Amino acid sequence: MAGPEGPGRSGRPTLAVVGATGAVGTVMLQILSQRADVWGEIRLVASARSAGRKLTVRGEEVEVVALTEEAFDGVDVAMFDVPDEVAEQWAPVAAARGAVVVDNSGAFRMDPDVPLVVPEVNPHAVRRRPRGIVANPNCTTLSMIVALGALHAEFGLRELVASSYQAVSGAGLAGVRTLREQMSLVAGTELGTHPGDLRRAVGDRTGPFPEPVALNVVPWAGSLREDGWSSEEMKVRDETRKILGLPALPVAVTCVRVPVVTTHSLTVHARFEGEVTVDRAREIIATAPGVVLFDNPAAGEFPTPADVVGTDPTWVGRVRRALDDPTALELFVCGDNLRKGAALNTAQIAELVVAER
Ligand SMILES: NC(=O)c1ccc[n+]([C@@H]2O[C@H](COP(=O)([O-])OP(=O)(O)OC[C@H]3O[C@@H](n4cnc5c(N)ncnc54)[C@H](OP(=O)(O)O)[C@@H]3O)[C@@H](O)[C@H]2O)c1
Repeated sequence: MAGPEGPGRSGRPTLAVVGATGAVGTVMLQILSQRADVWGEIRLVASARSAGRKLTVRGEEVEVVALTEEAFDGVDVAMFDVPDEVAEQWAPVAAARGAVVVDNSGAFRMDPDVPLVVPEVNPHAVRRRPRGIVANPNCTTLSMIVALGALHAEFGLRELVASSYQAVSGAGLAGVRTLREQMSLVAGTELGTHPGDLRRAVGDRTGPFPEPVALNVVPWAGSLREDGWSSEEMKVRDETRKILGLPALPVAVTCVRVPVVTTHSLTVHARFEGEVTVDRAREIIATAPGVVLFDNPAAGEFPTPADVVGTDPTWVGRVRRALDDPTALELFVCGDNLRKGAALNTAQIAELVVAER
C-alpha cells in the first residue's frame, strides 16, 4: 500500500500548504496537481474550523489538519496562504521546526532578512534567507513585475506610474462572495440615474469593500496610510523597489477595485534611462519567460481579464511609446491574481528551494 506520500514519492520533500481551504489555497491545490510533481507528502493545513474536511490534490483526497506546532513535524517546505496575523505568528514556528517557509501574506515582505522573490526576475535572492522565510509579493505587484523586470533589465527603469483594475478575489473568498451577492441584489433594478441608487440596493452588504463593487469601480484597496495613500498602493511601491533592487525608484500607483472575479489589470507608464523603441520593447516582451505579447489593436487584440483568467503568464498589450517622452512606454498588463499573483509564484519559489538540495 502507498504511504501518505503516495506511490513512488518516498524520499521526496514534504510540503505543507497552510490555508489550503482559502481562495489562494484552492488554486494552489490545482497548481500542485498540474506542475511537475517534486513533492512527497503534501499536508493540508487550515484553521480548526476546517479540520477533517477532505480536499483533492494530485487526484487524491487528503484530510485537512488544524494549524498546530505538530502540523510542521517532518515538513521541509511550508507554504503560508493565510491572513497576515496568522502568518506573523505561525511562520516563525514552522521555520523553528526546520521548514523553509514561503509566505504569501504581507507579514514579512519588507523585512530586510526576508527575500522577496519573483523567480523570473530575482531568483538568486531566494538563497539568502536568515529567518528561514521567503516572501511572495502582493498580487498587484506580481501582475506586472515580470514584464516590467524584463524591460528594466534592458532599458533601466527610472520611474513608474501605474493604475490597477483589481479583481474582487484579491480580497479572498469573502470578496468573491460579496460580488456574487451584490450582482443578485442589483440584477433587474433600475440603476444609474441617481446617486445612492446602488448603495440602497446593496444596503450594508458591502463585504470587504468600502462601497458597492457590482456595476461600479471603487478607487480603494487596503487600509489608509499617510497622506491619503492606501496600503495596497504603498505595497506596490515598496515591493517593486525591493524586487528590482531600486530603493529610490519614483513610483506613483492608484489602486482601483473593479467588478471582475479574478485577474488584475494595470495601466503602466514606465520611464527608462534613455530613448526606447516600441519594436525593441515588443521583442523583449515577446521573448521574456512568463510573458505573452498580445497586442494588435487593428485586429481587436489586447488582453482582458476574461481572456487571461486561469492562465499562468503575464499578458501585455497596448504597447506604445509615450507621446511626449521618447524615454517612456505605456502598457496594459493583465495577470491572474490567484495564479501568478499568488499560488503559482509561491509554487515556483518552493521549487527553487527544493532544487537547491
Ligand atoms: N487573493 C489574492 O489574490 C491574494 C494574492 C496574493 C496574496 N494573498 C494573500 O494570501 C493570503 C490568503 O489569502 P486568501 O485570499 O486565500 O484568503 P481567504 O480566502 O480568506 O483564505 C484564508 C485561509 O486562511 C485560513 N485561516 C484563517 N485564519 C486561520 C487561523 N487562525 N489558523 C489557521 N488557518 C487560518 C483559512 O482557513 P479556514 O477555511 O479554516 O478558515 C483559509 O484557508 C493572505 O495573506 C492574502 O493577503 C492573496
